[in-house]
Amino acid sequence: MNVDVILGLQWGDEGKGKVVDVLTPNYDIVARFQGGPNAGHTLEFENQKYVLRSIPSGIFQQGKINIIGNGVVLDPALFKAEVEALEESGHPLTDRLFISKKAHLILPTHRLLDAAMEQSKGDSKIGTTGKGIGPTYTDKVGRNGLRVGDLFHNFEEKYKKATARHIEMLAQYDFEYDLEEIEAEWFAGVEKLKTFNIIDSENYINKSLVTGKVLAEGAQGSMLDIDFGSYPFVTSSNTICAGACTGLGIAPSKIGDVFGIFKAYCTRVGSGPFPTELFDEDGQQMRDVGREYGSVTGRPRRCGWIDLVALRYTVMINGVTKLVMMKSDVLDAFETIKACVAYNINGEETEDMPYDITENIEPVLVELPGWKTDMTKMQSEDEFPEEFNNYLSFLEEELGVPIAIVSVGPNRAQTIIR
Ligand code: GDP
Ligand code: IMO
Ligand code: MG
Repeated sequence: MNVDVILGLQWGDEGKGKVVDVLTPNYDIVARFQGGPNAGHTLEFENQKYVLRSIPSGIFQQGKINIIGNGVVLDPALFKAEVEALEESGHPLTDRLFISKKAHLILPTHRLLDAAMEQSKGDSKIGTTGKGIGPTYTDKVGRNGLRVGDLFHNFEEKYKKATARHIEMLAQYDFEYDLEEIEAEWFAGVEKLKTFNIIDSENYINKSLVTGKVLAEGAQGSMLDIDFGSYPFVTSSNTICAGACTGLGIAPSKIGDVFGIFKAYCTRVGSGPFPTELFDEDGQQMRDVGREYGSVTGRPRRCGWIDLVALRYTVMINGVTKLVMMKSDVLDAFETIKACVAYNINGEETEDMPYDITENIEPVLVELPGWKTDMTKMQSEDEFPEEFNNYLSFLEEELGVPIAIVSVGPNRAQTIIR
């Protein structure tokens, strides 16, 4: 059996959590492969709303195993809070959530370093989520990291050594902090974490593949990928399909379908280039109707028209086999819909993603008629208005991949499989 992958094709917050939840009944295992609590994956069903950060979005469908893979970075304090909130709402997890021994730990000092580094960057800050993601992955690659498996072997000594190193680094910044307070919370998290099944998830997943199907859940989006995103305004992991191989221990030959998720428009949170960004009423309308405020930090998301230069690029990098279009309903009231089909760079048009999109990029926009219909009530594609079908066909032609799923509202039920 194969591993199917679900990942974001834009700058994150495409609606990955919702789609993972909807597709989970088709799988035996759901596994997160990268990122950490910088993610905020929102699910809505039965009049309840849940935001997941480190826990996979398959957790609400009964009888499925969920795995936090080796590619994830885990903050025990935030993990404990997330687990307890779920337990309180009637969703105990200990028997169906497994954690990789090789997942790296976000230490309290990683969080402090994230904040100190951002502060020192001033106007050129990345606008991180402040969860310690960059410093934790830096330690992983620098071979200084601590992993979940270390909690059971001489942990105190390893922790003290790592923290001492970080305190020396923090001394280089003009940054005040109170470590003791966050440490207490962090160690309480460690105790909670230890009550879970901590496993060699690469073995577990590969053995399960003999008879079972696995869904790999990505976090962030391909334009935030450390190699192919809008560097340096990116996150610190491989958010692309290849990240599912390294982040779970799956051979490339085992990858099946790659579901690429995008919004009918585009958003980004944090700093960095965004060629189709709107600063006018249209952008504000997308923000208001789409409730475009960060699920982790509450920051207003920047909004703009769909960017097909970026999407063509991320479809290519990921080998997307099925597209999923989210938040179609947010554009219901627009008279016309615009789409960026190329970039004009100093008078020259290109359809390929350039090395740098920071300056002198003018989006070449085409206009399509809006559908002016309430999409949220749609039950099947037979009900789609003609203009909406035209938008779908236009995107499929531009991107060369079929749109297999259309989402018309935040609720689990507002999903149309084509
Ligand atoms: P993720 O990080 O990719 O899982 O996405 P987020 O959860 O951060 O952001 C997506 C937001 O859009 C959430 O608030 C969802 O509840 C909401 N959402 C998902 N699909 C739709 C949709 O089709 N229409 C509308 N209006 N909202 C949606
Ligand atoms: P989900 O999984 C949107 C952005 C931050 C910042 C940059 C680096 O919900 O789609 P980091 O804290 O990772 O070092 O921040 O990446 N970012 C996200 N933007 N959705 C996310 O996750 C994000 N995770 C990180 O805003 O610009
Ligand atoms: Mg999100």
